[in-house]
Amino acid sequence: MSDRGARRGDSKSPAGGHGDEAGGRRQVVKFSFYRVDPAWRQLPVADREAGKDALVAAVDAFSGRLQVRSYSVVGMRGDADVLLWQIGERLEDIQALATEVMRTPLAPHLSMPYSYLAMTRKSQYVSPDEAEARLHLHPADSKYFFVYPFVKTREWYQLSLEERQEMMSGHITVGRKYPSVKLNTTYSFGLDDQEFVVSFETDEPADFLDLVMELREAKSSLYTLRDTPIFTCVSLGLRETLDTLGAPGDPVSASQAVGLQFDSDAWQRVAEESDVADGAAKMVYFAGEQVALVRFGERLYAVANRCSHANASLADGTVADGALTCPSHGSTFDLATGEPSCGPANRPLMTYAVRSEDGGIWLAQRTPVPGRKSAS
Ligand code: FES
Repeated sequence: MSDRGARRGDSKSPAGGHGDEAGGRRQVVKFSFYRVDPAWRQLPVADREAGKDALVAAVDAFSGRLQVRSYSVVGMRGDADVLLWQIGERLEDIQALATEVMRTPLAPHLSMPYSYLAMTRKSQYVSPDEAEARLHLHPADSKYFFVYPFVKTREWYQLSLEERQEMMSGHITVGRKYPSVKLNTTYSFGLDDQEFVVSFETDEPADFLDLVMELREAKSSLYTLRDTPIFTCVSLGLRETLDTLGAPGDPVSASQAVGLQFDSDAWQRVAEESDVADGAAKMVYFAGEQVALVRFGERLYAVANRCSHANASLADGTVADGALTCPSHGSTFDLATGEPSCGPANRPLMTYAVRSEDGGIWLAQRTPVPGRKSAS
């Protein structure tokens, strides 16, 4: 699973100022955990909304330079609320985004209790092809994200490469037993206090728990010096992430309301016929998930609203020729299949069964929930 560790004497000096490595260019990676001062919740609604709008606009302005994923940590920990996971080519872009965030009206109420800076690097413990692939992160569209800084004991680095390789091979073998958990290892040596930042994407938190528990039995675990704090994060669009901050007077969100009453066996009425114009998209909630409803001619389509590239809201995109184009970086998805026909997205969207009845638009799961009967 993991390629934690580094080998004495094999570090290469970057050929370029921003980290060229033989065979590819490294990425810079930043994990910024923000906390919102509780006093912010006492502001008038209009001021709070203006702060959120400005933060969303600031992040959107960097879409050409950084891939930014947003996560809510609300309810998961008491010392952080929001994670912005940033992936780019230059440290300066990371810094510029932080500056722009601090220029928003939300900034006087924001602190950054945790901040981890890292870069990608070829792993020495995997095959050359796999090592090459790790130079570039390809975030999944998973619902949950787990992050922690990681430090090995100095004794680890005194072991021979063969000893470390043997332990890491065992470690990797355990990881492969959990294919639902995707690992991203990034390196911080000299850049920040930790040696690595490891992050995991999955839709199955229980699989991640089992994986970590099993790895405690791996011999390599003896050489772990520190692997906390651990952050459990929920993937949402940035606007929705900020909405999870909540405040007195906020309406109960649609996702919360739907989540309380959802029955995955049933069709659910999610909108009125008149809500979706021809050639337009509308975001609705179904089973606690954001779904983009799209009308194209006589046909209605329903696909996951979060772009599989970097979570932008596809309901804000454009509809043409039976396809939906992401407003952030232009990925285009076939509405019938959810498959991307044009990148940078390279993974399909979830699609939903949709029908019109009694003046309303109804959705059901297209893929049966395991162990339950089909929706249609
Ligand atoms: S978020 Fe980048 S293409 Fe959609």
